[in-house]
Amino acid sequence: MELKKVNILAIESSCDETSAAIIQDGIVLSNVIATQKVHERYGGVVPEMASRAHMENIIPVVATAIADSGIEKSAINAVAFTQAPGLIGSLLVGACFAKSFAQTMNIPLIAVHHMQAHVLAHFIEERQPEFPFLCLTVSGGHTQIVLCRSHLDMEVLGETMDDAAGEAFDKVAKMLGLPYPGGPLIDRHAKSGDSLRFRFPSKEMKDYTFSFSGIKTAVLYFLQAQRKTDPEFAEKNINDICASVQYTIIKMLMAKLEKAAHDLGITNVGIAGGVSANSGLRKALEETGAKNGWSVFIPRFEYCTDNAAMIGITGYYKYQKGLFTDLSATPSARATWA
Ligand code: KG4
Ligand code: ZN
Repeated sequence: MELKKVNILAIESSCDETSAAIIQDGIVLSNVIATQKVHERYGGVVPEMASRAHMENIIPVVATAIADSGIEKSAINAVAFTQAPGLIGSLLVGACFAKSFAQTMNIPLIAVHHMQAHVLAHFIEERQPEFPFLCLTVSGGHTQIVLCRSHLDMEVLGETMDDAAGEAFDKVAKMLGLPYPGGPLIDRHAKSGDSLRFRFPSKEMKDYTFSFSGIKTAVLYFLQAQRKTDPEFAEKNINDICASVQYTIIKMLMAKLEKAAHDLGITNVGIAGGVSANSGLRKALEETGAKNGWSVFIPRFEYCTDNAAMIGITGYYKYQKGLFTDLSATPSARATWA
């Protein structure tokens, strides 16, 4: 007798990406991402506009994800949605949709923590980490070193005390006149720049704590001083500035990750979250991994930035353990680890 397959509809709407995916027995059948372009001209995500765009996008995105998957809507066994953390208005759109869908179809609802899902994006891939697994999760809102003992047993060993790494990339990009999100553009300029031309201070922090507000201020003062003598300084030197800033941020990230892996004796090490799409960080992890004899894990680009497939794989592990939630589950802008 053939075993019945488990189909999960996953919804992600924590920030400025409306995404839906269908996961069948842990395999991604579809993963649709609608990126909201409306924020570009404002230099950052405008929360009210994000909520409105989610409301416009959610139904077509879910319909496309179901159509792309090739399964019937009636074959969906559960709905997983991002409950926290994120922009509250954005989270509410996904949560309300997921609840209505679950109630209408009479299927269970699964609440997912967005940062846990970023880590579990590694388990979408064929080659998967073994436990204990150490993951550096770097996004626009978070910078964390996470110890994973199993799929659902994770501990945040350290995080940023101020800005996230992605925020540092985006804020520096804004100072350089680049549109939002600036991280990918810094990455592109850095490829043809000299990373040692300009030196920016990297603050020493204890244990596994990060701080990125210092580098942001250092770049601001540096640009102000240089622009006094040459108003076009940033434009003329953009590649070297981007390469130098990126180099400093990566150095800070890798130093803590290497320390944690060393302290805990862990050799399965990975990166996750939007900033893990950065080519310099990916290369640095490969090199540090080779030096230390680690098994290194880097998600495919589409699973680095926000996507519903990672919510679906987390939902799948929760489904197997019967970790469902009821309709009273409320989204939260800030929530402790699930
Ligand atoms: O995980 P994510 O999509 O959303 C959050 O949960 O925050 O991460 C978005 C962040 C943004 O700050 C964006 O600039 C950054 O990831 N990012 C990058 C790159 N691609 C995305 N930062 C540096 N280099 C990249 N290639
Ligand atoms: Zn994210």
